Amino acid sequence: MKWKCFSYTLSELSFTVKGLILAGGHGTRLRPLTFTGNKHMIPIANKPMILYGLGHLYKAGIKKIAIILGPINEGVKETIGDGSKFGAEITYLYQGDPKGLAHAVLVAEDFLKGDAFVMYLGDNLLKQGVRPLINSYFNNGSDCVICVTPVNDPGRYGIVELDSKGLVSRLVEKPSQAKSNLALAGAYLFNDSIFEAARKIKPSWRNELEITDAIQFLLETGKRISVQRIDGWWKDTGKPDDLLEANQLILDDLQSKLEGNIGEACRITGKVSVGKDTLIRRGTTIKGPVIIGENCEIGPDVYLGPYTSIGDNVKILSGEVEGSIIMQDVFLNCKKRIIDSIIGKRSRIESSETMYPSGLKFVLGESTQCRV
Ligand code: DAU
Repeated sequence: MKWKCFSYTLSELSFTVKGLILAGGHGTRLRPLTFTGNKHMIPIANKPMILYGLGHLYKAGIKKIAIILGPINEGVKETIGDGSKFGAEITYLYQGDPKGLAHAVLVAEDFLKGDAFVMYLGDNLLKQGVRPLINSYFNNGSDCVICVTPVNDPGRYGIVELDSKGLVSRLVEKPSQAKSNLALAGAYLFNDSIFEAARKIKPSWRNELEITDAIQFLLETGKRISVQRIDGWWKDTGKPDDLLEANQLILDDLQSKLEGNIGEACRITGKVSVGKDTLIRRGTTIKGPVIIGENCEIGPDVYLGPYTSIGDNVKILSGEVEGSIIMQDVFLNCKKRIIDSIIGKRSRIESSETMYPSGLKFVLGESTQCRV
């Protein structure tokens, strides 16, 4: 196979592969973070999660990409724009209410028709990227390529059953009694046959047109499905703990870069990245991997522990933070240890000891979680 610019050339035939990123849905399991913002804009290691998928597509040479948006899409267009800064041409498509992954494919049919396309779930992080799917598509002459990996909790995912020859024998979405532990990860490659499949299936028990059912339809109608086992980690960031785990996985590969000002008697160990115009005040200890954005003030005598991401314009004047995601414009001034937490933009946490009347004081959004 020859690689040629943004087209894949196989024998005499030339194909273009397009991209489809799903960033719709309500993100209910991530409330309150998703009451006011699109879940795909939640930062993982200081980068909106959707940009990881977008990066994989353009690294694989995919230039024409549609992004599916749902009812809450604040920030997506503002961040990605027409895609030119990422070397891509972006088209935005509105799905409205989340009627399922296969419904999203139908919303994008006019854009995608005639070319193979990679569908990437915007809330998934996949270390290997999508190039192996494209290779498998062309090498095996498939109609669909899925990627799978073993999981401990098959009831949370689309599950793939294989026969003794390793060929797909059945796919089931979130089975109550799973016969396999091979989960469908959130990157797929399809050709035009998926549109008929998405039109033929019926809504599932959760009233969605499931992509898993559409692939089962492809199987039943004799289409060729290739299975690609994932190399490296994969994370579906459905729940808050998943965000923290994804943050850890990404920070494991952090490159150290100290651009800010580091004060006297600070101790910095491990992989640490400090953005421009950030001030780390005297006596602060940072134990990486830790990423700190631009224009922050940290310290004096603050402790930042492993697997912490701190966005731009954050002030941490006292206390300790470890294993947490602190989003931009947050203010922390409490002599406590904050662990495994996700703190949304513009939040403030201050010590109750120095203010009167003393006591815990909150202004919390719906579905907020606190442990005091
Ligand atoms: O993460 C992998 C799993 O993703 C697969 O194993 C499942 O087979 C697949 O159905 C899907 O399951 P989830 O229940 O995790 O899907 P979720 O509703 O979280 O949606 C996945 C992404 O697609 C998310 O970024 C939101 C977006 N989406 C979702 C729906 C239902 C849309 O853009 N439109 C939609 O209608």
